[in-house]
Amino acid sequence: MLIALLPGDGIGPEVIAETRRVLEALSLDSLHFEEALVGGAAYKATGHPLPPETLDLARRADAILFGAVGDPDCDALERHLRPEQAILGLRKELGLFANLRPAKLFPELADASALRPEVASQIDMVIVRELNGDVYFGEKGMRKTVDGKREGYDIMSYDEDEVRRIARVGFETAMARGKKVCSVDKANVLETSQLWRDVVIETAQEYPDVALSHMYVDNAAMQLVRNPGQFDVIVTGNLFGDILSDQASMCAGSIGMLPSASLDSAQKGLYEPIHGSAPDIAGQGKANPLATILSASMMLRYSFGYASQADRIEQAVAKALARGARSPDLGGTLSTREMGDAVLAALT
Ligand code: NAD
Ligand code: IPM
Ligand code: MN
Repeated sequence: MLIALLPGDGIGPEVIAETRRVLEALSLDSLHFEEALVGGAAYKATGHPLPPETLDLARRADAILFGAVGDPDCDALERHLRPEQAILGLRKELGLFANLRPAKLFPELADASALRPEVASQIDMVIVRELNGDVYFGEKGMRKTVDGKREGYDIMSYDEDEVRRIARVGFETAMARGKKVCSVDKANVLETSQLWRDVVIETAQEYPDVALSHMYVDNAAMQLVRNPGQFDVIVTGNLFGDILSDQASMCAGSIGMLPSASLDSAQKGLYEPIHGSAPDIAGQGKANPLATILSASMMLRYSFGYASQADRIEQAVAKALARGARSPDLGGTLSTREMGDAVLAALT
């Protein structure tokens, strides 16, 4: 099993280093690692955020473990050269259309949540975010209006096949959990969302055991903090899923806790924390590596079928938290390395 390690920028290399240590401690002879540059680090070395060698490694690998990309030095570059294009390019080139972002509260972290403990303790959901379409990948540009003003535009669209395949992932995910899907859209305003809603309703016919509801995205943002326990599976588009998952992360304690899996229609997966390169804390040993360590656990489960090894990692994270391991985002003082140490010490 070849794992492509793509550390990227900012705290990416710091959280990937701890995750690699945890994976190596499992002593699985079948796991091999190959590392490549991505994002701003790749741009600075090669002139491109997603060099052909990196894309080639990602294609050859059985799974990809990704840190984060994004570098303030690169924010003025032309868009196609910016670090973020690397992750967008990987998702698109590899057909990774289904992004699973589980948000659940480790009971030990009830006091770290931005919500009251009795509200936070109910959180246990998966946000299923579409990753290959929406306003992210439509035609975009800058132009001049007839009266000479600058105008930026980004076309939002989904076709029915794109909606159907992500809806199915949502329903399948719910079948393996609480059998409830809440589809989040903005059908009261957007045609894209009207099609989304129509196709989700059609697809629901294939899943008579799943209870389907619909919610407008503004209400969903409110309900996530009012009563997050009502959600089992949220299925939504690329942009709404991006925003709602950052919000859900704080309900579950910290953005440093939420892992994700980005899957294609077969078994290929890219695994990454939902957070970014956190330039404000990069290089200071302050990053929480647990989101990336938990992403590696998802990799073992989804791409390799190593369920018991995946459980081992999750149990070690829970045990480390129960023993009081806390990075600054969780209200503690442990460094990134010390958080990695705590997980290693709890690994049985
Ligand atoms: P961010 O997620 O990097 O950081 C937001 C805030 O959360 C910051 O205060 C940061 O310190 C904190 N934070 C994030 N991860 C943390 C962790 N593991 N432990 C402790 N604290 C953590 O979002 P941003 O600041 O909006 O973006 C920074 C850069 O990252 C931008 O260039 C952005 O485009 C990029 N980004 C990349 C990805 C990705 O690679 N998938 C995701 C999000 C943002
Ligand atoms: C994420 C990030 C990315 C996204 C950016 C960096 C392109 O915010 O993975 O959540 O918007 O998908
Ligand atoms: Mn995001």
